[in-house]
Amino acid sequence: MSKDLSTHMKKELAQLQPSDILAFNQKISTIPDIIKLTLGEPDFNTPEHVKQAGIKSIMTNQSHYTNSAGKLALRQAASEFLQEKYQVQYDPKSQILVTAGATEAIYASLTAILNPGDKVIIPTPIFPLYIPVTLLNGAEPIFVDTSDNGFVLSPEKLDQILAANQADVKAIVLNYPTNPTGVTYHRAELQALAEVIQKYDVFVICDEIYSELTYDEPHVSLAAYLPDQVLLLNGVSKSHAMTGWRIGLLCGPAPVIAQIGKVHQFCITSATTNAQDAAYEAFKHGKDDGAKMRTAYQARRDYLVTALNKLGFTCAKPEGAFYIFAKIPAGLQQKSFDFCYDLAQKAKVAVIPGASFGPGGEGYVRISYAASLESLQQAMTRLAAYVTANQQVTTK
Ligand SMILES: Cc1ncc(COP(=O)(O)O)c(C=O)c1O
Repeated sequence: MSKDLSTHMKKELAQLQPSDILAFNQKISTIPDIIKLTLGEPDFNTPEHVKQAGIKSIMTNQSHYTNSAGKLALRQAASEFLQEKYQVQYDPKSQILVTAGATEAIYASLTAILNPGDKVIIPTPIFPLYIPVTLLNGAEPIFVDTSDNGFVLSPEKLDQILAANQADVKAIVLNYPTNPTGVTYHRAELQALAEVIQKYDVFVICDEIYSELTYDEPHVSLAAYLPDQVLLLNGVSKSHAMTGWRIGLLCGPAPVIAQIGKVHQFCITSATTNAQDAAYEAFKHGKDDGAKMRTAYQARRDYLVTALNKLGFTCAKPEGAFYIFAKIPAGLQQKSFDFCYDLAQKAKVAVIPGASFGPGGEGYVRISYAASLESLQQAMTRLAAYVTANQQVTTK
């Protein structure tokens, strides 16, 4: 007799659904000639010198496990990069873990911190991964909808929530420049948040993976203000167009990193050796590799914001990353999933439904400009025709 043990597993998993962004992307991918502005990864290639370092690593038989925290030379190069770019200090020997992308840093840090029943403050709209990982650990998200505040978490609101939930809140998630809105936090805003956070015994999972992609002002790290509480996430995925190499960084106080390092070790032993060698090259000799990409992204952002505004799509000004979070104009379908399916089918333009990013996202779409300017121009021509054909005149 055959057995089905799929109901005999971790109970939290049964409540979780696979990513609806991936499901949406798969569904629309079969539409012929569709322009996909759905991607959350650079459309550039990994810089040549970094690729060569990866090849050399393979050819010189760097095929063994490394120290679980990562090769020391890579941690040293990463430490220098973070110090030079963002004025944060991390001891390569005890305060940095090399992870399998920022994704593993999210998983390892939340898993190491959370007990069942704990609460995690998650400002939304947010990169969705934080939600299932919190739930998988038996913890509960406290969503803070930031859509009424320019998609920025205000210190007053944070203080209120922390004060009301002091006993249970273990961590706050902060991601900036933010996926999906592109907004970022400036020095004065970070100082004000830090003043609030330091009153409480909570961690901040500070996801700064887009730190090299800010357009108007240089990035400021919260870790510079709250080194005892911040777990800083970064990596080479976005800065060096290396998403597939899977190298991230997790930095924090030594005793905390030692604990998280156990989860990391139990999960992956160590990050891929050849990818570590390529990431070393990126941090050591490619500090400004992101600059050329940033210039291209900025031109695309400027083009898109103007084109979208002309069509009635408003958005908070994207100051970083490569996303625009645009409000669907009145007179068009406001349910973001329905809108995006219809747009994909009729206009052959794919964007991600805002509802995928948590409370505050409904009524919006996320448009990725990790695509060529020509593709963006063609997409805007198609969108314009769609809006003209489908917009109902709204009367009050
Ligand atoms: C905010 C944010 N954090 C983390 C990640 C994952 O990064 P990685 O590819 O390094 O795992 C992404 C990827 O899109 C992201 O947008």
